[in-house]
Amino acid sequence: MTPGTRPMIAGNWKMHGLAADGLALAHAVKDGAKGQAELVVCPPATLVAALAGALAGTAVAVGGQDCHMAAKGAHTGDVSAPMLADAGARFVILGHSERRGAYRETDPTVRAKAEAAIAAGLIPIVCVGEPEDDRLLARAEEVVAAQVAASLPEGFGAAGGVVAYEPVWAIGTGRTPTEADIAAMHAMIRARLVAAFPGQGATLRILYGGSVKPANAAGILALPNVDGALVGGASLVAEDFLAIAAAAG
Ligand code: 13P
Repeated sequence: MTPGTRPMIAGNWKMHGLAADGLALAHAVKDGAKGQAELVVCPPATLVAALAGALAGTAVAVGGQDCHMAAKGAHTGDVSAPMLADAGARFVILGHSERRGAYRETDPTVRAKAEAAIAAGLIPIVCVGEPEDDRLLARAEEVVAAQVAASLPEGFGAAGGVVAYEPVWAIGTGRTPTEADIAAMHAMIRARLVAAFPGQGATLRILYGGSVKPANAAGILALPNVDGALVGGASLVAEDFLAIAAAAG
């Protein structure tokens, strides 16, 4: 944890959730929320407005999982940042490895999306993380440093942007880096944030994501420069998500 920073536990529901079970999950998270961590649930776009309504005035905020870089236009199937904000979202996940992989999103694309999110008043949660090959070849830090340098727009610090370090090979696999490797990566990201955003970089939140579960959360969340978690699978089970939030203090 970084002194002076409020931890954040964000749930990335990915493509899971119909209205009935999504609302039930959101209510269960809201009802069980306690402690100091800021909680965010990021449902599919179809549920953002319903959840924002159901969670208004509670300790749980809502985020989108992606947005287009344009505010509006001829982009069939896409959702813009102003649309997410209008639906009640306060955050948006950008550059998730599943989007970088499946839709070939590049760092400049992610940067443009983050700019659009900030312009719409959303707080971007920008994901970075190395594929397994780069970890094996001992160039994980180099790869992530390049993503950080090219994915974060100028206004990221002033907007209170969030970075999520998610090693691609740890997502949905039950495998995680060692705590020492997580700490080393987060320290590197912190140094880059301090250099790029001198006013805010020391206290911007850096989340860890990739197979965070109740059993490993306390150890990961206690590491220096780990200011919370971006949780996939375990965020779909209210008691697991809440147990991870409790581990944040
Ligand atoms: P898992 O927690 O299921 O590994 O997913 C992590 C993730 O991709 C969060 O964005």
